[in-house]
Amino acid sequence: MNTQILPIEDPGKDESYVRRAAEILRAGGLVIIPTETVYGLAANALDGSAVRRIYEAKGRPSDNPLIVHVSNMEMIPPLVEDFPDGARRLAEAYWPGPLTIIVRKSGRIPPETSGGLDTVAIRMPSHPVARAIIETAGIPLAAPSANLSGKPSPTNARRCIEDMMGRVDAIVDSGNCQVGVESTVITLAEGKPRLLRPGGITLEQLEAVLGQVEVDPAVLHKLSAGAKASSPGMKYKHYAPKAHVILVEGSLQQFAEYVKTHQQGKTAALCFDGEEAFLSVRAFSYGKKEDAATQAARLFDKLRELDDAGEETVYARCPDKEGVGLAVYNRLIRAAGFEVIKL
Ligand code: TXA
Ligand code: MG
Repeated sequence: MNTQILPIEDPGKDESYVRRAAEILRAGGLVIIPTETVYGLAANALDGSAVRRIYEAKGRPSDNPLIVHVSNMEMIPPLVEDFPDGARRLAEAYWPGPLTIIVRKSGRIPPETSGGLDTVAIRMPSHPVARAIIETAGIPLAAPSANLSGKPSPTNARRCIEDMMGRVDAIVDSGNCQVGVESTVITLAEGKPRLLRPGGITLEQLEAVLGQVEVDPAVLHKLSAGAKASSPGMKYKHYAPKAHVILVEGSLQQFAEYVKTHQQGKTAALCFDGEEAFLSVRAFSYGKKEDAATQAARLFDKLRELDDAGEETVYARCPDKEGVGLAVYNRLIRAAGFEVIKL
C-alpha cells in the first residue's frame, strides 16, 4: 500500500490535508492522526470492515477493544445506551483532553470496535488537528495507538512511519505529542467508577469530580494467570522494547552501585536528568526526578532510542507514583515485564 504523508502544522493553514485525511476516513481507509497523548491509527468507528483493517495493520488481537474519538458532545448519544451523570460531569471537567470514559454501548457500535463487549470507550481529544479531522469527516473515529502491537506508542510521526509505512493510507505529521502517554481510562459501566489505565488526567483529578474511584489491580500489579482483565489491553505484553528492562527502586547511590555490579551484555541506564555523571554505563535520561509530566512526554521515545542503540539490558530508575507519575510507573513496569528490584 502506498502511504501518503500529510504534514499539518495548523489545521486552518493546512486545510487541504485535513480534508484529504477526512475523505480517506469517510471512504473506509486508515489514517494515522496526532492526538495530545500519542498518535492514533484511525478508521470510521461505525464501519466494522474499516475497523478490521486497524487490527490487521497493527497485528492487534481482535478481542482488544478500541477507543472511539469524538469532537463534540452531540456525537455521543447515538453511540451509547446511556451516558450516566458521572460521565457527564467528567466530560464537563476534562474534555476535550486525555480522558477515556467507558459506558454501555448502543447497537450502532459494531462488535469490531468494542472487541465484542457490550461497552464502548469514548474520548474527546484536545489536539486541534485531531479535532479538525474528526469534525471535517463528521464521523466518530476508532483509534488505538499507532504502534505495531506490543511496541511503545508513537509520540511523533517518525515513529509512526517506522512502524506503519505501507500499512496505512496516510500518516499525518504534526510534530511531538504533548502528554506522551495514552489517555486515562475509567469505566462507569458497572456502577462504581474504576480506573483501568492511568494517564494525563490523574486519579486525584477523577476523585475531585466523582469522590472515591477504585483502582483496578492491573494498574499496579501483574494479572495472575487465568485472571480476567477488566480492560483487555492490560493482559497483553505492552510498551516493550527489545531490550531486557528492569525497574530498580532505591536511592541514586544504590542504583549506581547496583548497575555497576550487574552489567549483562550491552547495559544502559534509564535515569533522571542530571544523574548521568554518577553512572558507569551509557545513560538515557527521561526527565527531572520531580517532573512527571516531562517523564511521561519522553518515556516512549526513550524506550525506542534504547532499541536503536542496541542496548541489551536496561536498568530503569523508578518514578514517583503520584499524579501523572502513576501513568509513568504503570507504563514502565509493563516495559519491564513487572521485573522490579527493590534495594
Ligand atoms: O490516548 C489514547 O487513549 C490513545 C489515543 C490514540 O487516543 N489511544 C489508545 O488506544 O491508547 P489503545 O487501543 O492503544 O488503548 C485502549 C485501551 C486498551 O487497553 C483497551 O483494552 C481499553 O482501552 N478499552 C477500550 N475499550 C474498552 C472497553 N469497552 N472496556 C474495557 N477496556 C477498554
Ligand atoms: Mg496501545
